[in-house]
Amino acid sequence: MKKAVCPGSFDPVTNGHLDIIERAATLFDEVIVAVGVNKSKNRLFGPEERIGMLEQATADLPNVSVAGFTGLLTTFCQERGATAIVKGLRAVSDYEYELQMAQMNASLTRIETVFMPTSPEWSFLASSLVKEVATFGGDVSALVPPFVLGPLIEKLAARRAVDGP
Ligand code: PNS
Repeated sequence: MKKAVCPGSFDPVTNGHLDIIERAATLFDEVIVAVGVNKSKNRLFGPEERIGMLEQATADLPNVSVAGFTGLLTTFCQERGATAIVKGLRAVSDYEYELQMAQMNASLTRIETVFMPTSPEWSFLASSLVKEVATFGGDVSALVPPFVLGPLIEKLAARRAVDGP
């Protein structure tokens, strides 16, 4: 039974994330989407909101589950009995950072990281860009699942009301 973890901050989940999760689900018996905290990023959605959106987005994938985690990713993988971490690579620019994390994680435990090239149609896609485009009224409906749109626009409006335009 091969179990993999797809980690990320998913703030919010995009069609690019779903592309990787769906393809990982064809390679492994079980995939756990691990919703974590990236300390270098300013979050828009809380953990429960991000988990809820991912549960909705993966509801049709029977071997995929979603869980939040805090602390080290390697500890989460050990606790869940996962032997691989799956990460999407959009471009060469992703590679340096992802390689460093993969090697650090492998040095902490003997976990393997599997890099999966993002499908070309999503290679430009990032949650941070989706938030930026939506902040200025751009149409992101082709980039995120439909049920993410409403909460995204509401959250950005609430943030604008506090921070100003
Ligand atoms: O989607 P992101 O922001 O690239 O996700 C990054 C995340 C949350 C997967 C990464 O920051 C992470 O693994 N954090 C957990 C803490 C940890 O294990 N840090 C050491 C990484 S080498």
